[in-house]
Amino acid sequence: MRRLLLWMAGNAFLRRNLPRLWFTRRAVRRFMPGETALEALVAAERFREQGTPVLFTLLGENLSRLEDADAHAAEYLELIDEINRRGIDGEVSVKPTQLGLDLDRDRTLAHLERLAGAAAPRTVWLDMEGSAYTETTVELYEAVKPRHSNTGLCLQSYLKRTYSDVQRLLPIEPRIRLVKGAYAEPPTVAYRSRREVDANYLALCVSMLEAMRNGRRMFLGLGTHDVELIRQVEQYARSNGFEQIPFDVEMLYGIRADQQRRLKKEGFPVRVLIAYGSAWYPWYMRRLAERPANVVFALRQLLPV
Ligand code: FDA
Repeated sequence: MRRLLLWMAGNAFLRRNLPRLWFTRRAVRRFMPGETALEALVAAERFREQGTPVLFTLLGENLSRLEDADAHAAEYLELIDEINRRGIDGEVSVKPTQLGLDLDRDRTLAHLERLAGAAAPRTVWLDMEGSAYTETTVELYEAVKPRHSNTGLCLQSYLKRTYSDVQRLLPIEPRIRLVKGAYAEPPTVAYRSRREVDANYLALCVSMLEAMRNGRRMFLGLGTHDVELIRQVEQYARSNGFEQIPFDVEMLYGIRADQQRRLKKEGFPVRVLIAYGSAWYPWYMRRLAERPANVVFALRQLLPV
């Protein structure tokens, strides 16, 4: 089921047609407050009332025209202005291909630098896409981080290369968000079983906490809804001399909201990622693939309310 849903995420015919169906549009609302930046900002203000900071991401990836990359960068700049104007504790997270990585690497870097300059001191994050982009995305981060310390990079625990990416980035004092990984990847580059992906997640966290203990300056965000794994990382930190929780927890809007509130109550720094934009189809299909039971929820939208 997971592979079928990830295949559907990449299928051009379905990408064009499924989002037009009313029941798909209704189902996606579970994971995003709306398609516009204004709806995302209003949702962020509701989180602010609960003292919860947010991350914004504008959906859209793999462009075919550079003009679209320029338009995305302009949209992010407007969003950052609005975040500043409203005084929201909000960071932004961008997909490198959304800023034109497929088409022009230097222009992508220039866009990223403008966003980082406008957002400072708030962090601008680079999402991690499929493994075809991992090396260029890590290189992009290596280029931008020394000039803009307020930038961060997402790494994926399903990739076998991630341990060496962490070691490679430590000298530049990285800000890392660790996720399990959301794309269909071959066994040559990725662990496929949940047990291996989770074990690698924990091992990566331990290696980063060790680096911090040895004086490395870095930031760690756990981008996961796996509360058991979060608990294990916390226990490791506590039994190894960390007096405060040395990481943030980042979860997606609409997923395990009860756990988000509970962790926050227990003192974990929790941040919620709010996605918006009209190009939500592949992103939404990856959310269904993460938990195929969500397909039942989507189909239930066919029933009258
Ligand atoms: P896992 O899938 O094991 O789920 C743990 C528990 O959470 C499950 O038991 C389930 O109950 C619940 N859960 C998880 N997903 C759910 C869903 N969709 N609906 C309902 N319940 C669900 N990926 C990537 O490749 N590149 C990126 O840049 C990012 N960025 C990113 C940012 C942030 C803030 C988050 C939280 C996630 C990402 N991801 C990502 C997605 C990530 O790779 C992964 O696919 C999802 O987080 C799901 O995996 P979990 O770590 O939650 O664990």
